[in-house]
Amino acid sequence: MTEPARYEAWYHSGRGAWIGDAEFALMMALLRPRPGATLLDVGSGTGYFSRRFVSAGLCVTGIDPDTEALRYARALGSAEGYAAGTALALPFADEAFDYSAAVTSLCFVDDPARALAEMWRVSRKGVVLGLLNRRSLLYRRKRGIGGYQGARWDTQQEVDWWFESLAPRPVALQRGSAVFLPGGGWPARLLERVLPGRLPWGGFLAVCLFKTL
Ligand SMILES: C[S@@+](CC[C@H](N)C(=O)[O-])C[C@H]1O[C@@H](n2cnc3c(N)ncnc32)[C@H](O)[C@@H]1O
Repeated sequence: MTEPARYEAWYHSGRGAWIGDAEFALMMALLRPRPGATLLDVGSGTGYFSRRFVSAGLCVTGIDPDTEALRYARALGSAEGYAAGTALALPFADEAFDYSAAVTSLCFVDDPARALAEMWRVSRKGVVLGLLNRRSLLYRRKRGIGGYQGARWDTQQEVDWWFESLAPRPVALQRGSAVFLPGGGWPARLLERVLPGRLPWGGFLAVCLFKTL
């Protein structure tokens, strides 16, 4: 991962703040968690989205294998706690959380289906995945650059294969995308406001799977 302070500073740049807001709004619109629910933030990094989930009234625990990022996130506080670990073997009991989220972290995991199965196991109600979309302008402009270095870009169809062996089967699925024009200038912001989030061409793909309604 990029050095934590630099990574976090990006979220406070004009374009980074716009992207962070668009991604968070989409995930919350799809997940619609009740305030007070518990959420595990898998691949929490510097804790940017953990803190946003907390500010939306959720009780959040973060987990990440990167000790530097964990130290940075812990120093900023606000989540219940941050644990060291991998998405591939989550150190939590079955259904320990209401929800789990992985925001642009499974794109750095070699076996995303196994990571999803782990998230599904530890979640009572549902899971939200934030992924990088190969069918997007963001992919054409930014793949392999900066924080996107080493990331896998998925298609909706590829992501669907990860669900195949989930048990129990999801009772509902919601998906959408955001960040349609990658630049972040006024045309991008205008388009983002008028295009429906269910269109599949945004650079950020969000998928919610529910265990219960
Ligand atoms: C692009 S950062 C995203 C961080 C944060 N979720 C955000 O959106 O700001 C990707 C994160 O995935 C984490 N990661 C990489 N491999 C992982 C794994 N096997 N399990 C969990 N997280 C992992 C990295 O350490 C890094 O913090």
